[in-house]
Amino acid sequence: MNKRVKDVVDGIVSAVQRVLDEKEITESEYRTALHYLMKVAEQREIALLCDVFFNSTVVATKARLSSGSTPAIEGPYYREDAPFVVDRLKTYDTDAHKPLLIKGTVKAVDGSVAEGVTIDVWHSTPDGKYSGFHDGIPTDFYRGKLRVGRDGQFSVRTTMPVAYQIPSDGPTGALLETMGGHSWRPAHVHFKVKAPGYETLTTQYYFEGGDWVGDDCCNGVEPSLISPEKVEEGARVMNIDFVIEPALERSGANT
Ligand SMILES: [Fe+2]
Repeated sequence: MNKRVKDVVDGIVSAVQRVLDEKEITESEYRTALHYLMKVAEQREIALLCDVFFNSTVVATKARLSSGSTPAIEGPYYREDAPFVVDRLKTYDTDAHKPLLIKGTVKAVDGSVAEGVTIDVWHSTPDGKYSGFHDGIPTDFYRGKLRVGRDGQFSVRTTMPVAYQIPSDGPTGALLETMGGHSWRPAHVHFKVKAPGYETLTTQYYFEGGDWVGDDCCNGVEPSLISPEKVEEGARVMNIDFVIEPALERSGANT
């Protein structure tokens, strides 16, 4: 027996039972919900549906327990095999979007500079797609791994990402629409900061004043993740000082 699994599943079951009772769910509504969930499974949207409603809660819990920078949802478009890059991400020759300069520091919670730090950076193409996932776009576009210098500093140039819709033509999008919602995410840049001996920090940063920043369909925006409007020599600047924390001791999940 796994006590952790039992505790969690018991909690989920009683939470659902409470809602069924409070909302006086009918047999017909219950069958409609089952039919809907089967459609979600058939169309392989279980991860998408759960991410829309629950991932931000798991991340918020992590944030509450963390002494480092604010984490954020990873989303489905991270690629472990992204290439190392120096100075700039590869962008389309035709990309006329405003230049974006991302720069800052990575420090440990005690203010020291960690060794061997890398930062994965990835964001949307100008048409709201991700390389390595959509339209056969090669993985080295709009993503890359940066090596952080011994002084803890990093910088990389790219172009502005765009707001985009999560997949909206399946059962997840239909549910959001039925609830009067939408499937738009504000423009953002994803980061994954890794260093030996430290917790990996996965996060996203948004742009002050950007569309949907106040109404993200994935509920992923925290005030500390909104980069203030700043322009230097024609480039939008995203200045970030990441703080990473030492790797946590894990207790066994089976105890
Ligand atoms: Fe994204």
